Amino acid sequence: MFMELVTVVGVYATLCWLYENLRTPVLLLVQGFQQLFLGGQTSLPQKYGPWAVITGGSDGIGKGYAHYLASQGMKVLLIARNEAKLKRVADEIMANHQGAEVKVLVADFSKGEQIYERLEQELAAFDIGILVNNVGVINEKPIQVDRMEKRMLWDLININCGAATNLCNIAVPAMKRRHRGLIINISSLSSVAPTPYLAIYAATKAYMTSFSLALRQEVAPYGIECQTVAPGYVHTSMTEYLNPAEGQKNAFSIRLVKVADMIRYAGYCIGKVDQTTGHWSHGIQTATLNMLPASLKLRVFTRLYTQLLHEYSNTDKKTT
Ligand SMILES: NC(=O)c1ccc[n+]([C@@H]2O[C@H](COP(=O)([O-])OP(=O)(O)OC[C@H]3O[C@@H](n4cnc5c(N)ncnc54)[C@H](OP(=O)(O)O)[C@@H]3O)[C@@H](O)[C@H]2O)c1
Repeated sequence: MFMELVTVVGVYATLCWLYENLRTPVLLLVQGFQQLFLGGQTSLPQKYGPWAVITGGSDGIGKGYAHYLASQGMKVLLIARNEAKLKRVADEIMANHQGAEVKVLVADFSKGEQIYERLEQELAAFDIGILVNNVGVINEKPIQVDRMEKRMLWDLININCGAATNLCNIAVPAMKRRHRGLIINISSLSSVAPTPYLAIYAATKAYMTSFSLALRQEVAPYGIECQTVAPGYVHTSMTEYLNPAEGQKNAFSIRLVKVADMIRYAGYCIGKVDQTTGHWSHGIQTATLNMLPASLKLRVFTRLYTQLLHEYSNTDKKTT
């Protein structure tokens, strides 16, 4: 009797894990075959509308999405703080993708509530088909909550949670009227478990995943899609701190995926699946972590980040 119960629980747990972790790859395969044999794929501008708005579009993952979406015929609006950098990236996109239309908008999401009235007015001029809520910041290195600067605490909340929340509030009404649109919310593998010494960042990403999954259910009846992307380590300025000196490697740097490789996979996922890690290798990492019960995941993350905390405090000691 006991063994039967263990078998039933084991089979049930395995089926749940398989459903959660193989749903996206299986859907991708099915959609890929459908496209190959049945054809008839509509372009992104036809399906969702002409403009793609990308927050944090001047660097890293956001810049990768901007290039990809321009290559698919979308007009692109990039939002970030540094105007000169935005213009440089806009020129780069126009030079790389013939006929691409790119506009830039300067905004600092760390300023919080005060910026959204102006943003709403400026965005009203655009028929937004795709909104990529990508902007995000991280504390430079692992650190205890009580040792963080107050400014950084607010930046993490205002930029990582506030921007996506407010931009959805601004963009969704017009998407509902047009009965089309796609929202892509960039979360992180950090959302999978609470992360000591990266506590606020991981919590903001758990917010993004929760918010995005709930929003998807709210907007689906209006013909709007909402995709949650939760990548692992990607080589951008955000993860530069994980890189050891030139030519060296460590446990973290070998896991870094190039932006171009991530975008090739994440771009293929657009319009096909509602949840992805953005790269197959991150899918394997997430699925492996998801085999662990929540309390064990927390232990693994605690161990990993305590190690990083010590590495960085040792580096600080050496450099001061
Ligand atoms: N890199 C990774 O390993 C990784 C993994 C999982 C998830 N993610 C998520 O992916 C997203 C992008 O990360 P990334 O690594 O590509 O970052 P990144 O390379 O540091 O780029 C950040 C972008 O955001 C802009 N930005 C920063 N602060 C801003 C502010 N206050 N207001 C407006 N724009 C601002 C930056 O431009 P300006 O500085 O000119 O404003 C830049 O365009 C984030 O949400 C991050 O959490 C990253």
